[in-house]
Amino acid sequence: MKIGTIKESKSKETRVALSPEVVKNFIKQGFECVVESGAGLSSYFSDEAYKNAGAQILNTAAEVCQAVDVLVKVNAPQQDEVNNLKEGSVLISFLYHLTNPQLIEALNAKKISAFSTDAMPRISRAQSMDVLSSQSNLAGYKSVILAADHAPKIFPMLMTAAGTITPAKVVIFGAGVAGLQAIGTAKRLGAVVEVTDIRPETKEQVESLGGKFISFDLGNDVKTEGGYVKEAGEDVLKRQREILKKHLAVADCVITTALIPGRKAPVLITEDMVNVMKFGSVIVDMAVEQGGNCELSKADEVIERNGVKIVGLTNLAGMLPQNASEGYAKNIYNFLTHLATKEGMKWEREEEITRGTLICHQGEILRK
Ligand code: NAI
Repeated sequence: MKIGTIKESKSKETRVALSPEVVKNFIKQGFECVVESGAGLSSYFSDEAYKNAGAQILNTAAEVCQAVDVLVKVNAPQQDEVNNLKEGSVLISFLYHLTNPQLIEALNAKKISAFSTDAMPRISRAQSMDVLSSQSNLAGYKSVILAADHAPKIFPMLMTAAGTITPAKVVIFGAGVAGLQAIGTAKRLGAVVEVTDIRPETKEQVESLGGKFISFDLGNDVKTEGGYVKEAGEDVLKRQREILKKHLAVADCVITTALIPGRKAPVLITEDMVNVMKFGSVIVDMAVEQGGNCELSKADEVIERNGVKIVGLTNLAGMLPQNASEGYAKNIYNFLTHLATKEGMKWEREEEITRGTLICHQGEILRK
């Protein structure tokens, strides 16, 4: 079995789907690895490091695609990359199949067997393969570092000869993987942290990390499924916004991570609410790619409104490329050694992880 990766073509992408350490592990298991020259440079993995790990280096993406049985990537392939793929080969990458039907049609037309890393079922046994978790975890950390960097004040309380500095107040929206990491990071920096989520079970998790949970009456308007929010009625969001307005008025930094899978992110901070925020406060909107939790945020921009900075940078995990690529590559290793042996793919079509992630196979689209 030959596994390979190429340089990510998406603009500003810094990550790569295989790290030298993971190449070494694949080779130990009897697989062969092929890497496009320069694929790891933005994550600070040199061709030399891949070669030392046992990979074969090829000059172009097209050569890699033609040489491998399985191509692993971070981002969904662009059309020219689809053209390069070998008919009947396996592709593993983020695909977001529900919102990318044309891509799936194109892959299927070439009889590619495509696995979507973002479709991993949220079950204990799949935790080590879960790229959404490994990337969100790092993004949650980076969101706090960005907030601290943009804030005009420090996070911890400090008693100095020049007087006492009070700790920063950080409000976090959403206590999923990214939000929980953000709580821990902001606490370690010395901030006072308040958190809102509409999954009731998050209260205990927030408190165990030293955050203060903002409780309010959820009524019967929130539906959850498999640990995710499935639906939140406008009534609950309205009640939540009223409560949050008071908390935002005294916040120094706000980090928003609230998502509803397969839907636009809920708007939790309206323009009115930004207008009550302190002069010099900061919002980091991690949901900006899904439409944003703040109605003013703009993707890949830092804007300022009435003295409030709104940071809408996307791909925060990619700002920590070495850890992000390592984590992604380890997820891929765990996933692929589950799906295949050195002899080839197992094709256990009824097994839960395979069933959840295999989007098209042998000319048939399996998940729509
Ligand atoms: P996510 O990225 O879809 O959403 C982030 C957070 O936003 C969630 O906590 C959600 O409840 C919250 N949210 C949605 N609407 C909101 C609103 N109006 N106000 C405030 N917060 C709102 O979720 P993520 O981080 O991917 O994880 C969701 C769940 O999946 C968690 O229970 C997590 O523990 C679980 N999980 C399980 C894994 C496994 O067993 N393999 C792996 C990773 C996560």
